Amino acid sequence: MMYTIWRVVGITIGVTAVVGVVVGSLTWGILANRGPPPPELKPLDWWEHTVIYQIYPRSFKDSDGDGIGDLKGISTQLDHLVDIGIGAIWMSPIFVSPMVDFGYDISDFYNIQAEYGTMADFEELVKKAHDLGIKILLDYVPNHASDQSEYFKRSLAREPGYENFFVWADPIIDPNNASNRLVPSNWISEFGGSVWEWSEIRQQYYLHQFAKEQVDFNFRDPAVRNEMLNIMKYWFEKGADGYRLDAVVHLFEADPNDHGGVYPDEPLSGNMFLNPDQAGYTTQEYTKHLIELYDVLYDWREFADGWKDENNSETKILLAEAYANITMTMLYYGVEGGRDGAHFPFNFELINSLSAKSSARDFVYVIKRWLTYMPSGRVANWVFGNHDKNRMPSRFRTNMVDGLNSLSMLLPGVAITYQGEEIGMRDGYVSWEDTVDVAACNQGNPDNYLEYSRDPARTPFHWDNTTNAGFSTNSTTWLPIALDYTEINLKAQKEAKRSHYKVYKSLISLRKQPALSHGSYHIQALSENTFILIRHLITHDTYALLFNVGSEDDTVDLDNVTLLREPLTVYASSVHSSRVDGDTVPWGERGRVTLQAGEAIVLRAPPT
Ligand code: NOJ
Ligand code: MG
Repeated sequence: MMYTIWRVVGITIGVTAVVGVVVGSLTWGILANRGPPPPELKPLDWWEHTVIYQIYPRSFKDSDGDGIGDLKGISTQLDHLVDIGIGAIWMSPIFVSPMVDFGYDISDFYNIQAEYGTMADFEELVKKAHDLGIKILLDYVPNHASDQSEYFKRSLAREPGYENFFVWADPIIDPNNASNRLVPSNWISEFGGSVWEWSEIRQQYYLHQFAKEQVDFNFRDPAVRNEMLNIMKYWFEKGADGYRLDAVVHLFEADPNDHGGVYPDEPLSGNMFLNPDQAGYTTQEYTKHLIELYDVLYDWREFADGWKDENNSETKILLAEAYANITMTMLYYGVEGGRDGAHFPFNFELINSLSAKSSARDFVYVIKRWLTYMPSGRVANWVFGNHDKNRMPSRFRTNMVDGLNSLSMLLPGVAITYQGEEIGMRDGYVSWEDTVDVAACNQGNPDNYLEYSRDPARTPFHWDNTTNAGFSTNSTTWLPIALDYTEINLKAQKEAKRSHYKVYKSLISLRKQPALSHGSYHIQALSENTFILIRHLITHDTYALLFNVGSEDDTVDLDNVTLLREPLTVYASSVHSSRVDGDTVPWGERGRVTLQAGEAIVLRAPPT
């Protein structure tokens, strides 16, 4: 019979049972002989603890000198992705598109956009990536198609089979003036203005939740749902390992059959910061989060799982883009005890609910909220940025880059990196004249366009300090290069003794540690601005992140933190930290560990 209690940083922990005496600081040798056997680690599927790297293909690497990134560019830079250690890439859309919304307006779902390359380039990229152990995720845009697509042309012509492919509605006759046409409802598009666009050809309105060139499919038409499965199958056969599912909250709108034959107006939201033509001015209750969409999503999951079984392939994953409240978000995982949904919905809480103003408690609360609401047995994920949001160091503070990257790497589940985060790229400056994002062009003016523009987060990747940051040999690039590229670029960070790149890379490699892949998590605020995240697995090294998210020095006390046994060694630290890897935090100093503003330290402690 073996009962052990020992002192772990000022508190006592019972291992097998709480009996007897405090043994004090036992050495691991003794514990190892007497303690329980190391736990068996549950094997993980390829995606469950991977790092997904989002590539915005237009801005990653231009191989043919036209100022626009392309597939060959990605193929030539796979070494960088192997070097940093990611497991999968998700590419924003690469399909044929008039580029009104830079690929999120697809006109041919089965072919590659010529400026990005050919099908052969795609196949080569898939092969090269797979040979290197990197999975390829594509962007699946089921909610809408380009108004230049064959689907739309056929629907315009009322071709049999396509007549109801999109959401068509008759105009409302103005009761005061019969020659006047009114839109079917007051619904507002995400990029501003009515969702309804008049078609002279069909003498009807069609619905678009984004730009008028992005026409919403009618998911109540079985032919549409069937075509979506054809598309999914097609790219699975071409080697795609899964999909990011775009804009799924918009799949359905209210059905006139449930509302006396009309499209019901939405009540006003009361949000006084919005203009009447801006999304959110009305409640969006008939245009977003309709419950019907979940069944479609669950069907996709069934299809993806079925494809995997039939073809004896590795798991094909589905990741849902759903900006929704926490309850509706969690339903994207599936129903507890019922059907499965996406492998995960992206966790946008770190983007939506945290900023430079957040305290340590805010971080702890937001992180715990996801983990608390997540249905049991599911995999968490952590997102600090994407092509739709201002870049992470611009939303937070530039001295927080290493801490934020460390946090996403140390939290349980999947970490997602938007291209450039590994070197701390910030928003680029894009003048009004150079602005190309449809969201900004539609809703903005020279004075306010930056409130809407997604261009600053999309400027090209900084490879080195040569012309165009090594992105392109063309005299111009589709978006300007951010001015800080001479200072913030991959080559310089590889050469520097300390850099964001080096911290990022060492944190990814730490993910192989069992405490990170399989351990429990403990997160708590130690003060207003500093929190600690501990990953712990019995008989394995423990790792902890200490992070001061405030803008001043902060001194915290580790004496009351459980699970951190001596000696505490610095595994990694922010580039501006005075601590270097391998430093120890002596026992006497644990009661007053000082962190500079934005400083993060990752500590290693021996097993308990
Ligand atoms: C979400 C995408 O991330 C965004 O870039 C796009 O504009 C909309 N969905 C519409 O497809
Ligand atoms: Mg090119």
